[in-house]
Amino acid sequence: MYALRCSVTSVLRGGVQTGPPILAMAATLQMSLAAPKAFGKPSDLGKSVSSLGAARLGATELKLVSIGAGVVSSCSSVRVQRQNLGLGVERLRGGFTTAATASAVEVGGSTISRDDVVREDDPTNNVPDSVFTKIGMQLHTRDDHPLGILKNTIYEYFDESFPELFKKFDNLAPIVSVKANFDDVLTPPDHVSRSYNDTYYVDANTVLRCHTSAHQAEMLRAGHTHFLVTGDVYRRDAIDATHYPVFHQMEGFRVFTPEEWEAAGSSDGTAYAAQDLKKTLEGLARRLFGEVEMRWVDCYFPFTEPSYELEIFFQGKWLEVLGCGVTEQAILKNNGRDGTVAWAFGLGLERLAMVLFDIPDIRLFWTNDSRFTSQFKSGQLGTKFKAYSKYPPCYKDISFWISEQFTENNLCEVVRGIAGDLAEEVVLIDEFTNPKKGLTSHCYRIAYRSMERSLTDEEINELQSQVREQVQTKLNVTLR
Ligand code: PHE
Repeated sequence: MYALRCSVTSVLRGGVQTGPPILAMAATLQMSLAAPKAFGKPSDLGKSVSSLGAARLGATELKLVSIGAGVVSSCSSVRVQRQNLGLGVERLRGGFTTAATASAVEVGGSTISRDDVVREDDPTNNVPDSVFTKIGMQLHTRDDHPLGILKNTIYEYFDESFPELFKKFDNLAPIVSVKANFDDVLTPPDHVSRSYNDTYYVDANTVLRCHTSAHQAEMLRAGHTHFLVTGDVYRRDAIDATHYPVFHQMEGFRVFTPEEWEAAGSSDGTAYAAQDLKKTLEGLARRLFGEVEMRWVDCYFPFTEPSYELEIFFQGKWLEVLGCGVTEQAILKNNGRDGTVAWAFGLGLERLAMVLFDIPDIRLFWTNDSRFTSQFKSGQLGTKFKAYSKYPPCYKDISFWISEQFTENNLCEVVRGIAGDLAEEVVLIDEFTNPKKGLTSHCYRIAYRSMERSLTDEEINELQSQVREQVQTKLNVTLR
């Protein structure tokens, strides 16, 4: 799932990030070697486990103990508290809200207050203020914004190809239950995407959705059989030109009845759906990119089988466009559509918009600078972005001895929390282990750059000194 990724500022707080999900932590006990990285790619056990535990290892709340190849989590006194925000399936109605300093945002007629979403001293919560401020921005509903232009083009494609068939939702609140985000789409209990290292938890049972698939089950239960859901999704991640903790996805879903595949002379619903899925998405790719070479790559998602990624050959390389597949029967069965077959796809809007509009850095989608916003017009897909300024980046290195619970995502949260959108990239440039001391050193290079102005040395030095300070206090590492 993280394959479709594309990218706020963040704050780590109150000591090292802490928190469960305790259940998921306990489940690491059984984490298998085949644990897939996120929903898509396999990763090694060690990394998954260390990120799971490390992400929120609390000084007092959680203890991680290594045992052989695996890791066992033991917890003492973790406060796992259910906070019902009452935001489940509500619609966002009122356009976008800029929330830079607001203590609450209006989302679909309900109010999401900062105090409910950002709770620094609650170990079950890891949402930084800077991520809260993105909730309700609704970039994808701005018709003159590259994300809105792209979304509207995809909508048009579906409307023209299947008049009045697909219902569109782009105002569903991004705060969803763990059940909706993970369980309902069959994400295994030990899946790394459930970790506090990868996902923003509002509390132990509530997350900022990390994919629009979080709405599949509720849509089915509400009786929808053909739908497109577009919205902001949230993931803790690296800092670079294509990753930002908030990005946008569109989910597509289509249910077929036996009559439909039988009328087409098919006795195999799954094969029929897979074929229809491919045809539909190839048509979409042509609509967006023109006559390009395409290929289907087998992959894995917990919620589809078979699962595929569509790649196109564009500007000299293979580009992954989306993930999709034939929906697992259990999802249909559990949500009132037993006996049917369905397909689903999910695509990352930033990823495609960066290519289609030549937008070099994901942070640009969030700027209000008119030199950016004035370049795009409703209905004009593919206008090439002209860089209005290119201020030089400033690089600062930081080296430290890591501890067992160190993760790069946590480092990136510290950097974003301090530098915000001035942080352009954080790259590991050197790593070694001192066998005598048994310690591992990491050296990261942080690139600071503003899209709008040149930064002064003083400003950058101040940011870097705060990073140095917080890295020690919050990440439990030793500066070298
Ligand atoms: N939810 C997946 C992701 O975020 C994408 C996907 C959606 C894949 C639907 C298959 C079906 O990467």
